[in-house]
Amino acid sequence: MEFLAKAGGQVSGAIRVPGDKSISHRSIMFGAIADGVTTVDGFLEGEDALSTLKAFQAMGVQIDGPEKGRVVIHGVGRDGLQAPAGDLYMGNSGTSMRLLAGLLAGQAFDVTLTGDVSLSKRPMERVAKPLREMGAVVETAEGGRPPMRIRGGQKLKGIHYQLPMASAQVKSCVLLAGLYAEGETSTTEPAPTRDHSERMLRGFSYPVAVEGATARLQGGGRLTGVHIDVPADISSAAFFMVAASITPGADLVLEHVGMNPTRVGVVNILRAMGGDLTVFNDREVGGEPVADIRVRHAQLKGIDIPEDQVPLAIDEFPVLFVAAACADGRTVLRGAEELRVKESDRIQVMADGLVSLGVKAEATPDGIIIDGGPIGGGRINSHHDHRIAMSFAVASLRATDTIHIEDCDNVATSFPNFVELAQQVGMNIEVVS
Ligand code: S3P
Repeated sequence: MEFLAKAGGQVSGAIRVPGDKSISHRSIMFGAIADGVTTVDGFLEGEDALSTLKAFQAMGVQIDGPEKGRVVIHGVGRDGLQAPAGDLYMGNSGTSMRLLAGLLAGQAFDVTLTGDVSLSKRPMERVAKPLREMGAVVETAEGGRPPMRIRGGQKLKGIHYQLPMASAQVKSCVLLAGLYAEGETSTTEPAPTRDHSERMLRGFSYPVAVEGATARLQGGGRLTGVHIDVPADISSAAFFMVAASITPGADLVLEHVGMNPTRVGVVNILRAMGGDLTVFNDREVGGEPVADIRVRHAQLKGIDIPEDQVPLAIDEFPVLFVAAACADGRTVLRGAEELRVKESDRIQVMADGLVSLGVKAEATPDGIIIDGGPIGGGRINSHHDHRIAMSFAVASLRATDTIHIEDCDNVATSFPNFVELAQQVGMNIEVVS
C-alpha cells in the first residue's frame, strides 16, 4: 500500500484518534492472567494490539471482541495459561514480544515468539539478559534478535535490575516476570519512562511501590479483573498536533487524549518551539490523566531539544522532525540513540527522507540536526515503519509537490483509520495499492 500525499491542505475540526497502544497491550495481558472478567473500552483495533490479543487466545484465554473498541477478557488466573499449539507471531510489535517474554518466562510451558521482517531485526538481548538473571531460560537468534525461545518450568527469583537504557518495555518485562518470581523484583530506570504497567497493575489490585526511579513488587500475588477505559493515544494525536502547528489557518481539537506525564514530551517540545497548544478539560479516567487539546497554526522556531524530554517523546520524533523542517532556524536532537532501534532506524530513515525532499538534515550517532526550509515533493520509503509513513504524510501539508510514500501497510499497526481522519480534517491523502 502507498500513500499519495498531495501538497497543501487544511487541518480543522475536532477528532478523537484511536486508543492508546501501550495501554491496549497491557489491558489484554493483565486481563488474561487476572481472576474474573476484564472489560475494555476504547481498545486500539490496530495490528500490534491484536497480535497480543491473538497470542492470549492461542494460550487458551477466551477474549470477545474487539467490537467498536470493546473487548471482554475472561481471565484464567495467574496459572491458567495453556501451552499454545505453535509459535506466537508478534507481527511488527516490539511491545508484544518484550512484555510477553517477561510474562511467559515463569510459565510451565515452552514458547517461541516470532515477528515480521522489522521486528526480526530488533534487539531482544535487553530483555533476555535480566530474565536470565532471574533464572529464566531464554534463547535469542544470532545477534540477540528474534525469534525468542523461552523454556517453561523454571523457578524464577526476584532481582533488582538497574536498567542500562530508558526503556518501559524492559522495565515492564522485568516486572511482569517478577509476578511469577520468588520474593521482591525491582527496577531502577536512568530516566522516567511510561509507567502504564505500574498504574495498571495497581488498577488490577496488585500492589506496586514506586519511589523515585525505582518500582518494586512482590511475586506470587493475584490480579483481579477490572474495567479499563483506554484514552486516545497521544502518540497518534501527535501527527495531528504537528499537522495543525505547521499549516496556516489550522485550528484543530483533539479529544480525550491520554496525558500521562511520562508521555507528554511532544506537547512540551512543540510549545518550546512556539507551538500554540491549549490543554483543557483535564480529567482522570481509570487512573490515567486525559484532556482535550486545541492546536492552532503557529510559526515554529528551531530549538535544542532538552534531553530530559527524549524518553517522554520517544515515539513522536519522526513527526517532530517534520515540525523542525517547517521551523525557522536549526533544531538539534541529542541523546536519542534509542531511535535507531525502533521499527526502523528512525534517525537515518527520517534524515534520508527529509534530504530527498530538499530539507537540510544531518543524522548524528545519537540524534539529528535539521535546518528549517522549503519541503519539496518526492518518493519516500517508510521501511515498514508506521510512524515514518504518517510523518511524511503530515509533511505534505507544507510541501511544494506531491509526496509519494511507499510501504504504508504498517500504518494499520497503530493507527488503522489514519487516512480517514486525515481526510476528515482536510489533508489531501489518497491510498494507492
Ligand atoms: C512502549 C515503550 C517504548 C515505545 C513503544 C511502546 C511500551 O519502547 O517506543 O512504542 O508500551 O512500553 P521502549 O520502552 O523500548 O523505549
